[in-house]
Amino acid sequence: MEHLHIRTARPADLTACAAIESACFPPEQAARREDLRQRLAAYPDHILVGERQGAIAGYIMGPVIGQPYIEDNMFTDPGCHDPSGPYQSVFSLAVLPARGLGGQLIRAMADLARREGRRAVTLTCLDSKVGYYAAFGFQDHGVGSSVHGGVPWHNMLLEL
Ligand SMILES: CC(C)(COP(=O)(O)OP(=O)(O)OC[C@H]1O[C@@H](n2cnc3c(N)ncnc32)[C@H](O)[C@@H]1OP(=O)(O)O)[C@@H](O)C(=O)NCCC(=O)NCCS
Repeated sequence: MEHLHIRTARPADLTACAAIESACFPPEQAARREDLRQRLAAYPDHILVGERQGAIAGYIMGPVIGQPYIEDNMFTDPGCHDPSGPYQSVFSLAVLPARGLGGQLIRAMADLARREGRRAVTLTCLDSKVGYYAAFGFQDHGVGSSVHGGVPWHNMLLEL
């Protein structure tokens, strides 16, 4: 498996992250470049980018929030980041194709959240990804209120 060099993000990572976001998600689910720019400005310490051979190959990002489940308005509101909150959220996990990169980023985000004393990592995912996250220890709390992209999203929590 190829090992990523994982570091926190910088504003200059915007173009690389936006390219990966649009390569990995259909347009109705992908974050807009402007939202990514605002996230990079608001909580760079909670955006982990993975580099291989000096180029970004993927990232995992999300604010720290005060409640266990993500709500749709948070995706476009960088002000939802509360550095002292108990939950590390994941708004986006996206990697270029290569074995094992996603898992390395999930583990790095869980390690960060554990070091910072969070209660859990929380994310939303499609039916088709429930098994993927369950393999990392996330528990399915059922379909939540999100109508993002017009499809059902499961609330998935990894207790720390
Ligand atoms: C989803 C994504 C992050 C996975 O990253 P990845 O680097 O391919 O995943 P990893 O290599 O870390 O993990 C792959 C493992 O998960 C398993 N897996 C993948 N999808 C799965 C699923 N739906 N259910 C169960 N297991 C699954 C694979 O079988 C593999 O297991 P193995 O290592 O035992 O063979 C990546 O494909 C991606 O960026 N997709 C587009 C964006 C996206 O969908 N992001 C998630 C939004 S909820």
